[in-house]
Amino acid sequence: MHSEDEDVYELSSLMTPWVLRTAVTIDLPALLEEGPRSTAELAALTRSDPSTLTRIVRYLACTGFVKENPEGQVALTGLGRRLCSSVDPLLSLLLKADSAAGRIDASLATLPSALAQGQVGYARLFGKDFYQDVASDPELSRSWNELMADGAPSIVEEILQHVAFDASSHVIDVGGGTGHLVAGVTQKYRDIFGCVLELPYAAAAASALFAELQLTGRCRVQEGSFFDDLPEGDTYFLASVLHEWPDGDALKILRRCAEAMPAHGRVIIVDRIVDSGKGDDALVANLDIMMLTATGGRERTREEIANLVESAGMQVQKQTVLASGRFLVEAGRAK
Ligand SMILES: C[S@@+](CC[C@H](N)C(=O)[O-])C[C@H]1O[C@@H](n2cnc3c(N)ncnc32)[C@H](O)[C@@H]1O
Repeated sequence: MHSEDEDVYELSSLMTPWVLRTAVTIDLPALLEEGPRSTAELAALTRSDPSTLTRIVRYLACTGFVKENPEGQVALTGLGRRLCSSVDPLLSLLLKADSAAGRIDASLATLPSALAQGQVGYARLFGKDFYQDVASDPELSRSWNELMADGAPSIVEEILQHVAFDASSHVIDVGGGTGHLVAGVTQKYRDIFGCVLELPYAAAAASALFAELQLTGRCRVQEGSFFDDLPEGDTYFLASVLHEWPDGDALKILRRCAEAMPAHGRVIIVDRIVDSGKGDDALVANLDIMMLTATGGRERTREEIANLVESAGMQVQKQTVLASGRFLVEAGRAK
């Protein structure tokens, strides 16, 4: 191999990502955070095969994540410490091979065959659609809710800055996840009522949030699917929802909103877009492949979003690219 090819091979190698993910999955960084340990001790604590673990640790040492002290015990380096969930909870959640995000990353291995056969990699690898899988396993549900809740505050803040509400608004957050948007809106506007329409696994998390924030008088949760009839309201949010679905499904969701809303109602879509002009092209390209792999969705251009809105019998009334690069579209019934 030419040395340039070696660089490209190194860049493409899956070895370090998978060894790191293995270490995080068995909580090795957390165990070493408490102090140096022998590999035999680590193997016993993680219920691992000692010989295999020794080989994993050797690789981690060669790549700078752990070091061996003179007594032959394994200790974390500064780099290795960054894998500890106490240092970066989000990173460790993303790296765990048995978390929802970890499983999405694992399904990237199916890209070549997915490309040829137009299949969704996640379902091909795990035998279930992403949300069927997440909903069927409490640990996956917990990890996905945690990830959604982690990203929610920045979305909620931007939405509150840009969307005006009537005092009598009734907000339906369609696929509203852990309820942070409805909580944010109803905490800011004290007369507004809100409802999260969600699958049962996330509905439970939203109910818990409303109870914790003492919002149950004005906020409720409805278990259900956004492919079925939606509850009555006047403002329907679709935040980070449409990009998870191929066009046919995204259109069905929009049609459900259009059917449910009154003549003066509106749908507010918040998604990333291709070519936002905000310097987020690499992030959007990354999310686009992730959607392709996880659920068969896609990141869209503003024109593609407008086309979907129009096909659902609505028209775009306002659109803004937010500072983060997210695109906020307000749509109402077509006149
Ligand atoms: C990417 S998350 C976005 C959550 C939330 N809107 C936010 O911005 O944080 C997409 C949400 O859609 C929900 N979802 C997926 N399929 C659904 C369905 N058929 N009916 C209702 N919600 C669904 C998921 O449970 C998940 O919480």
